[in-house]
Order: sequence, then structure tokens, then C-alpha cells
Amino acid sequence: MIESRKDDHIKIAAGQNVEEGNSLFNEVYLVHTALPEIDFDDVDSSVNIFGKKLSFPFIIGAITGGTETAEKINTVLAKCAEEFRVGMYVGSQRVAIVKPETARSFRVVAENAPTALKIANLGAPQVSRLDEKVLSDWVSQAIDMINADAIAIHLNPAQEVFQPEGEPWFRGVLDKLRFIKKVANRPLIVKEVGNGISMEVAKALASRVGPDAIDVAGTGGTSFIKIESIRARSIDEADIFSGWGIPTVLSICEVRSVYDGLIIASGGVRSGLDGAKAIAIGANAFSMSRPLLLAALKGHDEAKKFLSKLLRTFRIAMFLTGSKSVDELTKVPVVFGPTIISWLSQRNIRCKYVVK
Ligand SMILES: Cc1cc2nc3c(=O)[nH]c(=O)nc-3n(C[C@H](O)[C@H](O)[C@H](O)COP(=O)(O)O)c2cc1C
Repeated sequence: MIESRKDDHIKIAAGQNVEEGNSLFNEVYLVHTALPEIDFDDVDSSVNIFGKKLSFPFIIGAITGGTETAEKINTVLAKCAEEFRVGMYVGSQRVAIVKPETARSFRVVAENAPTALKIANLGAPQVSRLDEKVLSDWVSQAIDMINADAIAIHLNPAQEVFQPEGEPWFRGVLDKLRFIKKVANRPLIVKEVGNGISMEVAKALASRVGPDAIDVAGTGGTSFIKIESIRARSIDEADIFSGWGIPTVLSICEVRSVYDGLIIASGGVRSGLDGAKAIAIGANAFSMSRPLLLAALKGHDEAKKFLSKLLRTFRIAMFLTGSKSVDELTKVPVVFGPTIISWLSQRNIRCKYVVK
């Protein structure tokens, strides 16, 4: 049953070690600035994304919906999105479209975060099988359910192929994405779920769809290969693909080399410092899922504590690089470690000012 799968994901993601690989933020160095020539209070971390002003460039990741537990989690996260003036994705809304009695678990997001940037969510394999009339209806239902400012479509081939009841259907997805972009009347975000987006995929998206943002959701954080294999009791297969995917830092560089739109960095982003590094190398915003799930399960106070620390560490990274604004942070010097240099060189990618 689709709802019990949602609860399985929460239980496994919260109760077991499901993080794998290396996002490679440990190989990105921001250069310390002993003379920032600003006071800490001068740091302005705010940004505008899709017409909404955020206190810092952060979006709560796509996690869940469809069950009672999911409703509690979404309520806590939505309250935090409103209080901290950050964005929020919801988890895939297919469950609420096929079982409207579960829609309340998503509607709480609109109720508790009336002014926040809210992002609807559907999966590529599911939309790939809908005809245009039904697809158009799903898109408006997903948007209306949370009064969304944008819609995200997730690409998750690794998850689907390891999922016991998976739907690894990716034929024709580009055409469906182009159709969604046309009918949504909202910005379209294309995201992965933890295995990253390559420059080839970004190029295809840019030329055939024209999404308003790409969320790289690279490797180094939550692994859905691991989560689904635990559900399928076939962990030996998952071991073969352990760490599969494009590390988040490399995925940012890959996508930025061919795509001018908004890039959201996610997948193993674990602090405000990681977020600042992501922005310094080419992302416009960052997002986290599993750490927020863990905090939200402990309650509102814990989630607030988590976001306060995240905001503060992001602002400290800005201060220590002498960045008064997020725009200035995009221009600070960066030094890369050997894995990044080697990857960029073999892929012939220019990232920041590091050439080949
Ligand atoms: C319990 C759980 C459920 C998720 N469900 C969705 C989903 O429905 N749709 C989606 O686009 N991503 C989903 N994700 C993926 C996240 O949005 C994110 O891409 C991934 O977890 C990597 O980020 P992280 O390392 O910060 O967790 C889910 C993640 C978790 C932990």
C-alpha cells in the first residue's frame, strides 16, 4: 500500500544508517578572510527566489505526506518554514491524488506556512504514464493542494529500480516535463533524490524542457538505493551499488557548466558551512531532507533549534569570507581537493575559475 510505503521510508530513514558516499564538501575550501571589513551584523543572508524573500537561501527538502505521521512532520516543518522565512518542498503528492482522504497531510503545509515559498512534488515515472489531460489535472491538483508557488518533478531511476513495487518507467519523461512546464503556470524545478544530475542530463533538460531550477540532489547523503533495499530485504544487491551516483559538489559543477538557471544544492548538505560552499561554487540555494526529518520527529522545538544553528553557521561562513551579501558569497575564492580536480579535468568541466 502506498501509505505504508511512506511510513516505511520515514521509519527506515530515521532508524537506520542510510547515508552513503561522499558529497565532497570536505574537498571544498573557502579561504579565510582575516579582514572581512564588515561587522557580523552587517551580513545580509536574504535572497529572493520565485518572488518570495527568504531569510537565507534554504529550502526544507521533499520528505513526506500521505499518513498521520507524515501530517505531524509536515505541520512541524511548515511552521518552521513560516517562522524562519525559508522555502519548503513537500513529498510526492501522488498518494493524495489517488487517495484524496490523505490530502490533509499535505494541506497542513498551506495552513501552517501561508506566506512561505511552497513547492509541490510529483514523480517522473508516474507522470510518464499519464495522458496530457490527466497529467494537467494532477499538476493542478498538486499545486492547489498546498497553494504552491512552484512545482518539482523528481527523477529517481535508482530508487524505482531497487524499490520492491518500483515503477522504473522513464521513457518519454522529457516530453512530459515540457508539457508540465507549459501547463503549470508556475516555475518548474527538476530534482533528483540523491544520485545527482550530470551535465548531459542538465543539457537535455535545458534544451528540451527549460526548467526554472535544477535541484542536483547528489550523492553523499540519504541513499534511496539503501532504503529500498532494506525494504526489499536485498541489501546484498544494494551493496554492489553502494555510493552510486554523482557526489553533490561535482553535480553542482556539472550542471552549472551547461545551465544558467537556478541551481539548488542538496544531497548530504549537512551544515550552513556546506550550504555556503555550495553557493560559492555555483549553486543559488541549498536544501536538506534527512536531518530535518530527524529533527521534526523530535518536535517543533528541536526543528527550530536545528534551523537556528543552520542559519547561524551559514551567516558565520559569510562573515568569515567577508561576504556582506549572498551575491558576494558567489564570488569568494575557493580551493578544491584532488578528487574534485581530477573529476573536473576528466570531464573537461570548468567550475568556478578552475579550468580543466
Ligand atoms: C524519508 C524521505 C522521503 C523522501 N521522499 C521524497 C519524495 O517524496 N519526493 C522527492 O522528490 N524526494 C524525496 N526524498 C529525497 C529528498 O528530497 C532528498 O533529495 C534526499 O533525501 C537527499 O537529501 P539529504 O541527503 O539531505 O537527505 C525523500 C527523502 C527522505 C529522507
